Amino acid sequence: MDKVVTCVAPVNIAVIKYWGKRDEHLILPLNDSVSLTLDCDQMHTKTSIIAGPFITEDCVWLNGQIMSIERNERLKKCFDLIRNLIKIQKGENSQEVKWKIRVCSENNFPTAAGLASSAAGYACLVYTLANAFGLVNGDLPSIARQGSGSACRSIYGGFVQWTAGVDDQGYDSTAVQIAADTHWPEMRIIILVVNDSKKKTSSTVGMKQAVKTSELLKYRIQKCVPERTKEIIQAITDKNFEKFAEITMRDSNQFHAICLDTYPPCVYLNQVSHEIISFVHDYNEATGQIKVSYTFYAGPNAFLFIQQIDLSLFMSELVNVFPTMQPNSSYLRGIVSTLPNNV
Ligand code: DP6
Repeated sequence: MDKVVTCVAPVNIAVIKYWGKRDEHLILPLNDSVSLTLDCDQMHTKTSIIAGPFITEDCVWLNGQIMSIERNERLKKCFDLIRNLIKIQKGENSQEVKWKIRVCSENNFPTAAGLASSAAGYACLVYTLANAFGLVNGDLPSIARQGSGSACRSIYGGFVQWTAGVDDQGYDSTAVQIAADTHWPEMRIIILVVNDSKKKTSSTVGMKQAVKTSELLKYRIQKCVPERTKEIIQAITDKNFEKFAEITMRDSNQFHAICLDTYPPCVYLNQVSHEIISFVHDYNEATGQIKVSYTFYAGPNAFLFIQQIDLSLFMSELVNVFPTMQPNSSYLRGIVSTLPNNV
């Protein structure tokens, strides 16, 4: 390979949250999750890869800083799984198995700030590696999952479900597309960056603590998520915005309730996040319909869902109430795109 391969992967926004693992090593979740993948034009990771006999060692640069692959178990795992796939698809003795790989990856938005950067990052890494080595038909979501759980959902565009599965080895825990990005063209996502500094407790650590200490987490997994997942998939299929929006808000609120039920608690939302929540409920009440919904990740930043027809009126109200917020609105799309080689 004497050319650079570059791909772009967008973030995905979970509306049924993944929170809790049943296997830390294989990154197998306790529950199904559902997400929407954003357009690549917005928040994304861009990754360039070159590999060949002329490269002396594997190396990864993230946002201009070199990372140690040996000390990063997840990164190492993704490299190993890709090399395994090369062996399976190109033969044990293929020269490419021995090639060293150089990776350069950049996020166009703050990393580790509760904006789903690891999802876009690992999806992009795995997808670009697969492209660079011409690997076809590999289970890329399962490889991305072992980099960061939520990354498996960014491999696909549109609406995506990550099924938890029951298999100990995780063979049935992968991402599937529920509906293409073209299915609901009226859907818009508004991103409100409240605070872009690195979060105090990472998702990995926060969910591990929650599994250990939260009673509410057990209730959520057994009693709430299975029914909610079915209902939201139906709402997506029917393009029933009110149903979709209500489930989204309920799931975000329950997720943050679990964070508080964790001991010691993980507090991801701040005063401004709560003001946004109130603003959305007041707005919906005033219009007599659910026109807009919110979801929050492991951070104070808000992701709002709204349909195109309601966007401009809502935006004008929003900027009145939060004049410094600079909202970004995004489409759905997000199948990871390959840019021309040699860029
Ligand atoms: C709140 O996928 O970042 O974004 O698997 O440990 O890397 P690891 O965790 P990660 O957790 C994401 C949690 C979440 C919810 C979601 O994306 O579903």
